[in-house]
Amino acid sequence: MKLWDKGYGIDKEVNEFSTGEDYLLDRKLVRYDCLASIAHAKMLGRIGILKPREVKKLDGALRKIIRLDAKGRFTIRKEDEDCHTAIENYLIRELGQAGKKIHTARSRNDQVAVALRLYYRDELSACERLAMGFIAALKDFRSKYGDIKMPGYTHTRKAMPSSMGMWSESFAESMGDNIKLLQAAYKLVDQSPLGTGAGYGVPLKIDRALTARELGFARIQRNPIYVQNSRGKFESVIVGALSVLMFDLNKIAEDLIMFSMPEFGYFVIPRELTGGSSMMPHKKNPDVLEILRANYHLMNSYEFRIKGVIANLPSGYNRDLQLTKGPVMRSFETAENSLRVATKIMKRIKADKRRSEEGLSEEVYATERAYSLVKRGTPFRDAYKRAARRNL
Ligand code: ARG
Repeated sequence: MKLWDKGYGIDKEVNEFSTGEDYLLDRKLVRYDCLASIAHAKMLGRIGILKPREVKKLDGALRKIIRLDAKGRFTIRKEDEDCHTAIENYLIRELGQAGKKIHTARSRNDQVAVALRLYYRDELSACERLAMGFIAALKDFRSKYGDIKMPGYTHTRKAMPSSMGMWSESFAESMGDNIKLLQAAYKLVDQSPLGTGAGYGVPLKIDRALTARELGFARIQRNPIYVQNSRGKFESVIVGALSVLMFDLNKIAEDLIMFSMPEFGYFVIPRELTGGSSMMPHKKNPDVLEILRANYHLMNSYEFRIKGVIANLPSGYNRDLQLTKGPVMRSFETAENSLRVATKIMKRIKADKRRSEEGLSEEVYATERAYSLVKRGTPFRDAYKRAARRNL
C-alpha cells in the first residue's frame, strides 16, 4: 500500500510508469533509510511523540530490516514504489501503532535526501580508498621501473627525454588532486536534510540537531527549500568529481594502449589481462584498457543526464528528481570498478627497458644540446638554431 493511499484506486500503468526502476535502485538505500529512521525515532521519543517502549520497538524492527537486507531478504515490491514505503509498511505490519507514528515530522522528500546522503558518504569514502590504492600501485610501479628512460611526447611526436618514473608520478600526483575533489563533494553532502519535511518545514517543534548528531553529519542544512533544491545539484558535484577522476583513467588507458603497441613496445601487458580474437589466432588485445578509456564517456553522459533533468525545475521537490538516482548510482559503480581494474593493471603491467630506451633516438636530446651551449654562454636563440641544424 502506498503511503499516500487515500482510499481510491490508482491507474496501474501510470503508477508503474512513474515508479520506473526506482524500486530496484532503492535496494541500495534500504540500510540507509533504516539508519535515518532509527535516529528519527529516537528524536520523536525525545520530544514526546513516541513512548520509550515504541522507540525501542521501532529500533528493534529497523535493525531487523537492516539484517534482512544484508542477506538479500528484504524485498521492495513494484507496488511499494520505493524503499521508504516498503519499510514503513513493514513497520506497520510488525508493530501496528508504533509503525503508524514513524512518519511524524517528516516527508519522503527529506527522507530520500537523508538516505541518499548517507549512501553518498559511504560511496565517496570507498572511492577515496580505491583512489589511494591506485596511487599505491603507481608508486610500486615507480619503484620497480622508475629509472627506465623513455621518450616524452608532445603532439604525439618525440619531444624530450622522460622516464617511467616521471610518467607514473604524473598520474599519482593527479589522483591526489582528485581525492581533494572527492573530499569537497563529501563536505557538501555531509549536512543533514532531515526535519525539513516536504520542503517547507514541519509544523511541530523538533530537534534537528539530535538527528544530525546521531547520523554523524557535520552540520544541519538550514533552509528547507534549499534542501530540495540541492537534489541533483549535489549529485552533479559528485559526478563532476568522478568524471575528472575518470579523465585520468582515460588518459592512462590511452597511454598504455599506445605504448604497448608492438611498434612502440615500451609497456608489456601480461597476456592474462588481454582479450583475443574469434578469427585471428595471434591477437592479444588491450580490451580492458579500451573499456577503461570509454568509461570516461559514460561518466560524462551520467553528468549530462543529471544536469539535464534538474534544469528549469521550479523550487521545491519535483518528481523529475527521482531520475537523478540511476545516473548517480551508476557513476559510483563505474568509477569504483574502473579504479579497481586500473589498480590491477598498474600492479601487473611491465615496462620493457630495452624497447623504451631504444625509443630515445638522438633528436630527443636536441633541447639538451641547445642548453649545453647556453651553459657555456651562447644566447638561447643562437644555441637553438645551432642545435636545430642537425634535424632540419
Ligand atoms: N522515489 C522518490 C524519489 O526518489 C521518493 C520521493 C517521493 N516523493 C514524492 N513527493 N512523490 O524522489
